[in-house]
Amino acid sequence: MRVLAIESSCDESAAAVLDAEAGLLAHELYSQVELHRTYGGVVPELASRDHVRRLLPLVKTALARALTPPGDLAGIAYTAGPGLIGALLTGASLARSLAYALRIPAIGVHHLEGHLLAPLLERDPPPFPHVALLVSGGHTQLIEVAAIGSYRVLGETRDDAAGEAFDKTAKLLGLPYPGGPQLAELARRGTAGAFTFPRPMLDRPGLEFSFSGLKTAALHAVRGAAPLTEQRRADIARAVEEAIVDTLSAKALRALEYTGLRALVVSGGVSANHSLRERLSAAARGHGARVYYPRLEFCTDNAAMIAVAGLARLRAGQHDGLAIEARAQWPLASLPPLAA
Ligand code: KG4
Ligand code: ZN
Repeated sequence: MRVLAIESSCDESAAAVLDAEAGLLAHELYSQVELHRTYGGVVPELASRDHVRRLLPLVKTALARALTPPGDLAGIAYTAGPGLIGALLTGASLARSLAYALRIPAIGVHHLEGHLLAPLLERDPPPFPHVALLVSGGHTQLIEVAAIGSYRVLGETRDDAAGEAFDKTAKLLGLPYPGGPQLAELARRGTAGAFTFPRPMLDRPGLEFSFSGLKTAALHAVRGAAPLTEQRRADIARAVEEAIVDTLSAKALRALEYTGLRALVVSGGVSANHSLRERLSAAARGHGARVYYPRLEFCTDNAAMIAVAGLARLRAGQHDGLAIEARAQWPLASLPPLAA
């Protein structure tokens, strides 16, 4: 079975072709980062319009690179939520229309299920069951993954997501959108221990997160550091990154302890962060556990991960009706199990 997948939930337009036997045949991506940079964040209406412009050429290129005529496709997967509703609808409309014209099934994929299953594209995929730490721009969750489609949220953020915390503090330091990777870059030049920010909720039992206090702590540090020299900016960036990495690692290990599981998947945009990867891998080794990541390009939004989730569900006989539907909000735990 061979499927085409389309991703358009936020500011990345992407298409991929995945074959059940031959694996990933092509994946194409266009990032709208430049388009939104002037505004310091994603402008939903501009995102939708740009998806309309980019998606079809990306689909054509992906099919050509995969040497796959449309008639060879057995199904189409597209991100149906959660995300920006206008952006989601551009991908949903294209996917459903193509599927209708080709008389093949189409399935709306949950964006976070895509992130969770991205490591399955790697040579050494994670075993089931495992614990997943999902850290993106909009979500921070610890999830017990019993099997594909069986997700139990163990804990999540009460306010900002980890990616959001990176982006907001980056903005305070004058870094351009999207700030996460830039803050991480700046942090490399920072001195450890020059600033220390709170690790909220670390002293309490449980697996909840809270990152909104970090913005305030960083804001006070920025204001108090007049003049804000290049070194101080780097020191603050380092302290922000350390507070986030510390909190995420400690809670992820706690989740392994609670569940008794030995495999940890880390996915979503923030899983591209080097400090987090190093810290988690070392900490997990100390606990006799192993960490599995997607390759760097599949940590952030892409269509290959949507193809993995879509192919699994289409193979299990699941697909959606003809209506073009998308959901801005969509609880992960409400997804049907694969075998239903
Ligand atoms: O998964 P993703 O591409 O989009 C969502 O579904 O949200 O995640 C994007 C988030 C942004 O907040 C971005 O700043 C953050 O991931 N991010 C990083 C790094 N790369 C991306 N944060 C810290 N360090 C990085 N290297
Ligand atoms: Zn994402």
